[in-house]
Amino acid sequence: MRCAIKTEGITKAFGSKTVLDVIDLDIESGEVFGLIGPSGAGKTTLIKILTGQISQDSGKAHIGGKDSRKLTGEDHRHFGITMDNFGLYERLSCYDNLLTFARIHGLPKSSITDALAKVGLAEAAKTPAGKLSKGMTGRLKLARAFMTDPDILFLDEPTSGLDPVSAGEIHRIILSEKAKGKTVFLTTHTMTEAEKLCDHIALLNEGKIVEYGSPEEICRRYDHQRMLKIHLSDGKDMQLPHNKEAAAALSELIVSGRAETIHTTEPDLETVFMELTGKELSA
Ligand SMILES: Nc1ncnc2c1ncn2[C@@H]1O[C@H](COP(=O)(O)OP(=O)(O)OP(=O)(O)O)[C@@H](O)[C@H]1O
Ligand SMILES: [Mg+2]
Repeated sequence: MRCAIKTEGITKAFGSKTVLDVIDLDIESGEVFGLIGPSGAGKTTLIKILTGQISQDSGKAHIGGKDSRKLTGEDHRHFGITMDNFGLYERLSCYDNLLTFARIHGLPKSSITDALAKVGLAEAAKTPAGKLSKGMTGRLKLARAFMTDPDILFLDEPTSGLDPVSAGEIHRIILSEKAKGKTVFLTTHTMTEAEKLCDHIALLNEGKIVEYGSPEEICRRYDHQRMLKIHLSDGKDMQLPHNKEAAAALSELIVSGRAETIHTTEPDLETVFMELTGKELSA
Protein backbone atom coordinates (compact mmCIF):
# COMPACT_ATOMS: atom_id res chain seq x y z
CA MET A 1 0.00 0.00 0.00
CA ARG A 2 1.26 3.46 -0.90
CA CYS A 3 2.26 5.71 1.98
CA ALA A 4 0.27 8.96 2.02
CA ILE A 5 2.02 10.52 4.98
CA LYS A 6 5.36 9.60 6.45
CA THR A 7 7.21 11.24 9.29
CA GLU A 8 10.72 10.45 10.43
CA GLY A 9 11.99 11.79 13.72
CA ILE A 10 9.86 14.93 13.77
CA THR A 11 10.85 17.08 16.72
CA LYS A 12 9.51 20.49 17.66
CA ALA A 13 10.05 22.72 20.68
CA PHE A 14 8.46 26.03 21.59
CA GLY A 15 11.07 27.82 23.70
CA SER A 16 12.40 25.30 26.18
CA LYS A 17 9.33 23.03 25.90
CA THR A 18 9.66 20.02 23.59
CA VAL A 19 6.18 19.56 22.14
CA LEU A 20 6.94 16.77 19.64
CA ASP A 21 9.71 14.37 20.49
CA VAL A 22 10.89 12.15 17.60
CA ILE A 23 7.62 11.30 15.86
CA ASP A 24 7.76 8.41 13.36
CA LEU A 25 4.55 7.60 11.52
CA ASP A 26 3.52 5.79 8.33
CA ILE A 27 -0.01 6.50 7.18
CA GLU A 28 -1.29 4.46 4.28
CA SER A 29 -3.12 5.88 1.35
CA GLY A 30 -6.88 5.39 1.77
CA GLU A 31 -6.94 4.88 5.52
CA VAL A 32 -8.51 6.86 8.33
CA PHE A 33 -5.74 7.56 10.81
CA GLY A 34 -6.50 8.99 14.23
CA LEU A 35 -4.06 10.95 16.35
CA ILE A 36 -5.30 10.82 19.88
CA GLY A 37 -4.01 12.47 22.98
CA PRO A 38 -4.87 14.73 25.87
CA SER A 39 -5.07 18.48 25.50
CA GLY A 40 -1.62 19.95 24.89
CA ALA A 41 -0.17 16.65 23.66
CA GLY A 42 0.97 18.23 20.37
CA LYS A 43 -1.72 17.04 17.92
CA THR A 44 -2.43 20.40 16.28
CA THR A 45 1.28 21.16 16.17
CA LEU A 46 1.88 17.97 14.16
CA ILE A 47 -0.94 18.83 11.71
CA LYS A 48 0.56 22.30 11.27
CA ILE A 49 3.95 20.76 10.46
CA LEU A 50 2.47 18.21 8.05
CA THR A 51 0.55 20.90 6.19
CA GLY A 52 3.51 23.25 5.98
CA GLN A 53 2.06 25.92 8.30
CA ILE A 54 5.05 25.71 10.64
CA SER A 55 8.44 24.00 10.39
CA GLN A 56 9.80 21.25 12.57
CA ASP A 57 13.14 21.68 14.33
CA SER A 58 14.42 18.35 13.04
CA GLY A 59 13.21 15.25 11.23
CA LYS A 60 11.28 14.90 7.99
CA ALA A 61 7.63 14.80 6.97
CA HIS A 62 6.45 13.65 3.56
CA ILE A 63 2.95 14.22 2.25
CA GLY A 64 2.15 12.34 -0.93
CA GLY A 65 5.89 11.88 -1.38
CA LYS A 66 6.72 15.61 -1.01
CA ASP A 67 8.67 17.24 1.77
CA SER A 68 6.19 19.21 3.93
CA ARG A 69 8.62 22.16 4.03
CA LYS A 70 8.57 22.47 0.25
CA LEU A 71 4.86 22.34 -0.50
CA THR A 72 3.67 24.62 -3.28
CA GLY A 73 0.23 26.17 -3.79
CA GLU A 74 -0.52 23.41 -6.28
CA ASP A 75 0.40 20.76 -3.68
CA HIS A 76 -2.00 22.40 -1.24
CA ARG A 77 -4.87 21.62 -3.59
CA HIS A 78 -4.27 17.94 -2.84
CA PHE A 79 -5.18 18.26 0.79
CA GLY A 80 -8.12 19.70 2.65
CA ILE A 81 -7.79 21.09 6.15
CA THR A 82 -10.25 21.87 8.92
CA MET A 83 -8.88 23.32 12.10
CA ASP A 84 -9.72 26.11 14.54
CA ASN A 85 -7.54 28.75 12.90
CA PHE A 86 -9.20 28.13 9.52
CA GLY A 87 -12.19 30.27 10.44
CA LEU A 88 -15.30 31.26 8.54
CA TYR A 89 -16.57 34.74 7.70
CA GLU A 90 -19.56 34.96 10.01
CA ARG A 91 -21.45 37.62 8.04
CA LEU A 92 -21.04 35.92 4.69
CA SER A 93 -23.47 33.25 3.59
CA CYS A 94 -22.36 29.63 3.32
CA TYR A 95 -22.20 30.07 -0.45
CA ASP A 96 -20.12 33.26 -0.23
CA ASN A 97 -17.74 31.72 2.29
CA LEU A 98 -17.01 28.97 -0.20
CA LEU A 99 -16.92 31.46 -3.08
CA THR A 100 -14.06 33.30 -1.36
CA PHE A 101 -12.18 30.02 -1.08
CA ALA A 102 -13.03 29.05 -4.67
CA ARG A 103 -11.56 32.34 -5.92
CA ILE A 104 -8.32 31.80 -3.98
CA HIS A 105 -7.92 28.39 -5.59
CA GLY A 106 -9.33 29.29 -9.02
CA LEU A 107 -12.15 26.77 -8.72
CA PRO A 108 -15.36 26.88 -10.79
CA LYS A 109 -18.62 27.91 -9.09
CA SER A 110 -19.95 24.39 -9.59
CA SER A 111 -17.44 23.25 -6.93
CA ILE A 112 -19.36 25.37 -4.39
CA THR A 113 -22.75 23.80 -5.02
CA ASP A 114 -21.16 20.34 -5.18
CA ALA A 115 -19.42 20.83 -1.84
CA LEU A 116 -22.57 22.20 -0.14
CA ALA A 117 -24.64 19.27 -1.46
CA LYS A 118 -22.05 16.78 -0.27
CA VAL A 119 -22.41 17.90 3.36
CA GLY A 120 -26.19 18.42 3.21
CA LEU A 121 -26.06 22.23 3.28
CA ALA A 122 -27.57 22.98 -0.14
CA GLU A 123 -30.67 24.49 1.50
CA ALA A 124 -28.56 26.68 3.78
CA ALA A 125 -26.53 28.20 0.90
CA LYS A 126 -27.85 31.72 1.65
CA THR A 127 -27.66 31.48 5.46
CA PRO A 128 -24.90 33.59 7.05
CA ALA A 129 -22.22 31.34 8.57
CA GLY A 130 -22.69 33.09 11.94
CA LYS A 131 -26.31 31.89 12.10
CA LEU A 132 -25.53 28.19 11.63
CA SER A 133 -25.81 25.61 14.38
CA LYS A 134 -22.52 24.08 15.62
CA GLY A 135 -23.15 20.92 13.62
CA MET A 136 -23.83 22.90 10.43
CA THR A 137 -20.70 25.00 11.03
CA GLY A 138 -18.70 21.78 11.26
CA ARG A 139 -20.21 20.60 7.99
CA LEU A 140 -19.50 23.95 6.27
CA LYS A 141 -15.84 23.66 7.31
CA LEU A 142 -15.78 20.15 5.85
CA ALA A 143 -17.40 21.43 2.64
CA ARG A 144 -14.57 23.92 2.26
CA ALA A 145 -11.98 21.22 2.89
CA PHE A 146 -13.56 19.13 0.11
CA MET A 147 -13.67 21.83 -2.53
CA THR A 148 -10.41 21.04 -4.26
CA ASP A 149 -11.34 17.33 -4.22
CA PRO A 150 -8.23 16.63 -2.15
CA ASP A 151 -6.57 13.23 -1.76
CA ILE A 152 -5.74 13.81 1.90
CA LEU A 153 -7.97 15.39 4.53
CA PHE A 154 -6.54 16.80 7.77
CA LEU A 155 -9.38 17.14 10.24
CA ASP A 156 -8.38 18.63 13.60
CA GLU A 157 -11.11 17.63 16.07
CA PRO A 158 -13.88 17.75 13.47
CA THR A 159 -16.62 16.87 15.97
CA SER A 160 -15.41 18.81 19.00
CA GLY A 161 -18.37 20.16 20.99
CA LEU A 162 -21.01 18.57 18.76
CA ASP A 163 -24.05 16.61 19.91
CA PRO A 164 -24.09 12.89 18.99
CA VAL A 165 -26.43 13.40 16.00
CA SER A 166 -24.29 16.15 14.43
CA ALA A 167 -21.13 14.16 15.18
CA GLY A 168 -22.76 11.13 13.53
CA GLU A 169 -23.42 13.17 10.36
CA ILE A 170 -19.76 14.17 10.23
CA HIS A 171 -18.73 10.54 10.78
CA ARG A 172 -20.91 9.52 7.84
CA ILE A 173 -19.25 12.15 5.62
CA ILE A 174 -15.75 11.06 6.72
CA LEU A 175 -16.51 7.40 5.99
CA SER A 176 -17.96 8.23 2.58
CA GLU A 177 -14.71 10.07 1.74
CA LYS A 178 -12.74 7.04 2.87
CA ALA A 179 -14.93 4.85 0.62
CA LYS A 180 -13.77 7.01 -2.29
CA GLY A 181 -10.15 6.21 -1.46
CA LYS A 182 -9.27 9.44 0.35
CA THR A 183 -6.79 9.43 3.20
CA VAL A 184 -8.04 11.01 6.41
CA PHE A 185 -5.80 12.24 9.23
CA LEU A 186 -7.95 13.20 12.16
CA THR A 187 -7.42 14.18 15.76
CA THR A 188 -9.95 13.50 18.45
CA HIS A 189 -10.51 13.31 22.19
CA THR A 190 -13.39 10.90 21.74
CA MET A 191 -12.51 7.26 22.02
CA THR A 192 -15.77 5.97 20.56
CA GLU A 193 -15.11 8.16 17.51
CA ALA A 194 -11.63 6.65 17.12
CA GLU A 195 -13.03 3.12 17.49
CA LYS A 196 -15.74 3.79 14.92
CA LEU A 197 -13.71 5.61 12.25
CA CYS A 198 -10.04 4.76 12.43
CA ASP A 199 -8.09 1.97 10.77
CA HIS A 200 -5.07 2.88 12.86
CA ILE A 201 -4.53 5.20 15.75
CA ALA A 202 -1.50 6.62 17.49
CA LEU A 203 -1.65 7.72 21.08
CA LEU A 204 0.33 10.88 21.63
CA ASN A 205 1.27 11.79 25.16
CA GLU A 206 3.65 14.57 26.15
CA GLY A 207 5.07 14.70 22.64
CA LYS A 208 5.73 10.96 22.24
CA ILE A 209 3.77 8.21 20.52
CA VAL A 210 3.09 5.76 23.31
CA GLU A 211 0.91 3.30 21.36
CA TYR A 212 0.11 2.56 17.73
CA GLY A 213 -2.17 0.04 16.02
CA SER A 214 -5.77 -0.64 15.11
CA PRO A 215 -8.17 0.17 17.98
CA GLU A 216 -8.91 -3.57 18.41
CA GLU A 217 -5.21 -4.53 18.46
CA ILE A 218 -4.44 -1.93 21.08
CA CYS A 219 -7.33 -3.01 23.31
CA ARG A 220 -6.28 -6.66 23.00
CA ARG A 221 -2.72 -5.74 23.94
CA TYR A 222 -3.98 -4.34 27.24
CA ASP A 223 -6.19 -7.29 28.10
CA HIS A 224 -4.19 -8.18 31.21
CA GLN A 225 -6.94 -10.34 32.65
CA ARG A 226 -7.49 -12.53 29.54
CA MET A 227 -10.80 -13.81 30.88
CA LEU A 228 -14.21 -14.60 29.41
CA LYS A 229 -17.18 -13.15 31.28
CA ILE A 230 -20.24 -15.37 30.97
CA HIS A 231 -23.74 -14.40 31.93
CA LEU A 232 -25.75 -17.52 32.75
CA SER A 233 -29.43 -18.17 32.12
CA ASP A 234 -30.03 -18.40 35.90
CA GLY A 235 -28.96 -14.75 36.21
CA LYS A 236 -25.50 -15.48 37.68
CA ASP A 237 -22.17 -14.32 36.20
CA MET A 238 -19.02 -16.36 35.97
CA GLN A 239 -15.53 -16.01 34.49
CA LEU A 240 -13.34 -18.54 32.69
CA PRO A 241 -9.75 -18.07 31.55
CA HIS A 242 -9.47 -17.12 27.87
CA ASN A 243 -7.40 -20.19 26.93
CA LYS A 244 -7.56 -23.74 25.54
CA GLU A 245 -7.95 -25.32 28.96
CA ALA A 246 -11.32 -23.60 29.41
CA ALA A 247 -12.69 -24.88 26.07
CA ALA A 248 -14.47 -27.96 27.45
CA ALA A 249 -16.20 -26.03 30.24
CA LEU A 250 -17.20 -23.30 27.80
CA SER A 251 -18.50 -25.78 25.26
CA GLU A 252 -20.61 -27.46 27.97
CA LEU A 253 -22.15 -24.11 28.94
CA ILE A 254 -23.04 -23.37 25.30
CA VAL A 255 -24.36 -26.88 24.48
CA SER A 256 -26.50 -26.99 27.63
CA GLY A 257 -27.90 -23.56 26.80
CA ARG A 258 -26.77 -22.14 30.18
CA ALA A 259 -24.56 -19.42 28.65
CA GLU A 260 -26.65 -16.42 27.72
CA THR A 261 -23.89 -13.94 26.80
CA ILE A 262 -20.09 -14.28 26.56
CA HIS A 263 -17.72 -11.32 26.56
CA THR A 264 -13.95 -10.98 26.56
CA THR A 265 -12.39 -8.73 29.17
CA GLU A 266 -10.29 -6.48 26.95
CA PRO A 267 -10.53 -2.85 28.03
CA ASP A 268 -11.96 -0.09 25.86
CA LEU A 269 -9.64 2.56 24.44
CA GLU A 270 -10.56 5.05 27.15
CA THR A 271 -9.27 2.63 29.80
CA VAL A 272 -6.08 1.94 27.82
CA PHE A 273 -5.41 5.66 27.57
CA MET A 274 -5.95 6.16 31.26
CA GLU A 275 -3.49 3.37 31.96
CA LEU A 276 -0.89 4.82 29.59
CA THR A 277 -1.20 8.49 30.33
CA GLY A 278 -2.81 8.65 33.75
CA LYS A 279 -5.17 11.22 32.23
CA GLU A 280 -8.78 11.24 31.11
CA LEU A 281 -9.09 11.97 27.40
CA SER A 282 -12.68 12.95 26.91
CA ALA A 283 -12.16 16.39 28.41
N1 LIG B 1 2.93 28.91 18.66
C1 LIG B 1 3.14 28.38 19.87
N2 LIG B 1 3.97 28.97 20.74
C2 LIG B 1 4.25 28.45 21.96
N3 LIG B 1 3.69 27.30 22.42
C3 LIG B 1 2.84 26.66 21.60
C4 LIG B 1 2.52 27.16 20.28
N4 LIG B 1 1.65 26.30 19.69
C5 LIG B 1 1.46 25.31 20.60
N5 LIG B 1 2.15 25.52 21.73
C6 LIG B 1 2.19 24.64 22.91
O1 LIG B 1 2.49 23.33 22.44
C7 LIG B 1 1.78 22.36 23.19
C8 LIG B 1 0.97 21.48 22.24
O2 LIG B 1 -0.05 22.26 21.65
P1 LIG B 1 -1.06 21.64 20.59
O3 LIG B 1 -1.99 22.75 20.23
O4 LIG B 1 -0.31 21.00 19.50
O5 LIG B 1 -1.79 20.53 21.47
P2 LIG B 1 -3.07 19.65 21.11
O6 LIG B 1 -2.67 18.23 21.34
O7 LIG B 1 -3.57 20.02 19.76
O8 LIG B 1 -4.09 20.10 22.24
P3 LIG B 1 -5.71 20.23 22.17
O9 LIG B 1 -6.24 18.84 22.33
O10 LIG B 1 -6.04 21.09 23.35
O11 LIG B 1 -6.06 20.87 20.86
C9 LIG B 1 0.93 23.13 24.19
O12 LIG B 1 1.61 23.14 25.41
C10 LIG B 1 0.85 24.51 23.59
O13 LIG B 1 0.70 25.48 24.59
MG1 LIG C 1 -5.33 20.83 19.08
